[in-house]
Amino acid sequence: MLPKPAISIDRAKRRVSIDVHHPDFYRSPSSAYAEIHAHCPAFYWNEREQWYFAGYDQVNALLRDRRFGRQILHVATREELGIPSPKAHLRDFDALEEHSLLELEPPAHTRLRTLVNRAFVSRQIEQLRPDIQRLSHVIIDGFERDGEVELLKTYAETIPVTIIARMLGIPVEATPNLLDWSHRMVRMYVFNPSPETEHDANQASADFADYLRTIIAEKRRAPADDLLTHMITSEKDGERLSEAELVSTAALLLNAGHEATVHQIGNAVRTILQSDHAPEDLFATEATTALAVEECLRFAAPLHIFQRFALSDLDLDDGISLRKGDKIGLMLGAANVDPRKFSDPLHFKPMRNEGANVSFGAGLHFCIGAPLARLELNLSLPILFQRLPGMRLKHEPEVRDSFHFHGLERLDLVW
Ligand code: HEM
Repeated sequence: MLPKPAISIDRAKRRVSIDVHHPDFYRSPSSAYAEIHAHCPAFYWNEREQWYFAGYDQVNALLRDRRFGRQILHVATREELGIPSPKAHLRDFDALEEHSLLELEPPAHTRLRTLVNRAFVSRQIEQLRPDIQRLSHVIIDGFERDGEVELLKTYAETIPVTIIARMLGIPVEATPNLLDWSHRMVRMYVFNPSPETEHDANQASADFADYLRTIIAEKRRAPADDLLTHMITSEKDGERLSEAELVSTAALLLNAGHEATVHQIGNAVRTILQSDHAPEDLFATEATTALAVEECLRFAAPLHIFQRFALSDLDLDDGISLRKGDKIGLMLGAANVDPRKFSDPLHFKPMRNEGANVSFGAGLHFCIGAPLARLELNLSLPILFQRLPGMRLKHEPEVRDSFHFHGLERLDLVW
C-alpha cells in the first residue's frame, strides 16, 4: 500500500485533507501551499471541519474585515452558539486569556491597546538599538571561541526574552521561568491539545500570574521607569487598568515578545545559509538588511495560522456562506507564498520589491510588537554573520512538528 500523502485535494468540492503531523507537510508547508494555490485557495479543511483561506488578497482582506472577530462571546452567548462551558481545569489559563489584548474586540481592545501602544511605536523602540546591539555582541563573545553553537537557546531566544523583560521591568533572573511558563502556555495553540497539555498550561498560567502580581505590587510601592509601571499609572478617560488586565497584558507581552522572534531568527539564519546569497551582500547596508529581513519573514514565517469568528450570518464573494459563530482559518504562511502576489514565491529573493508580507497580520490585531521584532532582526542577524564569517550549518536542521509555530528543533552551527 502506498503511504498516505500529506495533502489531498478535491478541487470540485473545494475540500482538502491535510495531515499536519506528516513530515512532508511540517518540514515544508510551502509545497502543500503551492498545491492549494493551484487548486483551491479557499477550501473546506476536512479534519478541521471549517473553511480556510490561503490567497494573499483574501487573507489580507479578511484580517481587516470587521464582520469577523477574534472573540464571539461579546455578541452571542455560549448557549446560543452551542459552545461548551469553560473547562474547570483551565480556569487560570482562561483568566489570563479573558483580558488579553489578542482575544478582545472593541471597545475593550481599543482601550487596552491605546494604553500600551505608545511604548511600541517605532520612535520609542528605536531607543533600544544600542541595548540590542550590545546584547548580541556579549552573547557571541561567550561562544565565539568554541567553533560551534546551538543558536536557538543561546542567541535567538535570549535576545528577545531579555529585551522584552527589560522593557517591562522584570528582573533578568526571572527569564528562565518566563521561558518555561510561556512554552507551557503556547502548547495550547496546537490543534486539539491533550488533557496533560491543558493541565500543565493551567499550572504555568497560575504560577506566572502569581509572579506578575508580586512584581506589580513591588512597582506600585516603588515605581520605576519601565513599561509595567507605565501601565499601572497611565489612564485613559479617567480609567486605569484593573489588576486582572495588568496581569494579562504583561503575560501576553512577555510571551508574544519572544515566542515568534526566536523562530524567526532561526528560520532566517537557516534560509540565508542555504541560499546562494553571500551574507556580506545581504547585510551590506541598512537598506539591503531591511529587504533581506522582510524576505525572510515572507519566505519562512514563524506563525502560519490565525482564526476568526464570523460575528453574524454572512456570505463571502466566492459563494461561501457562514453562520454567526462559525470559525474561519487565515493561513498567513500560505498567503506569503501566493503566486498571484509574489513572483516565483518558493524562492528566496531578498531584493524583491513586491509589497508587504502578512507575517505580522493586518487590521485591528496587527502585531503591536512588529517594530520591536523588526529591530531585533535587523540588528541581530547582521551582527551574527559579521562576527562569524565562516559560519555554516553543522547538519540539516530538524523542523519542529508544529504547524502553528513553524520553526526548528535546534540550529547547530560551526565555523
Ligand atoms: C517575528 C516576530 C513576530 C511575529 C511574526 C508576530 C506575529 C503576530 C501576528 C500575526 C499577530 C496578529 C494575530 C491575529 O491577527 O490574530 C500578532 C499580534 C500580536 N503580537 Fe506579534 N509577532 C512577532 C513578535 C512580537 C513581539 C516582539 C511582540 C512584543 C510585544 C509581539 C506582541 C504581539 C501582541 C501583543 C499582539 C496582539 C495585538 C492585538 O491583538 O492587538 N509580537 N503578532
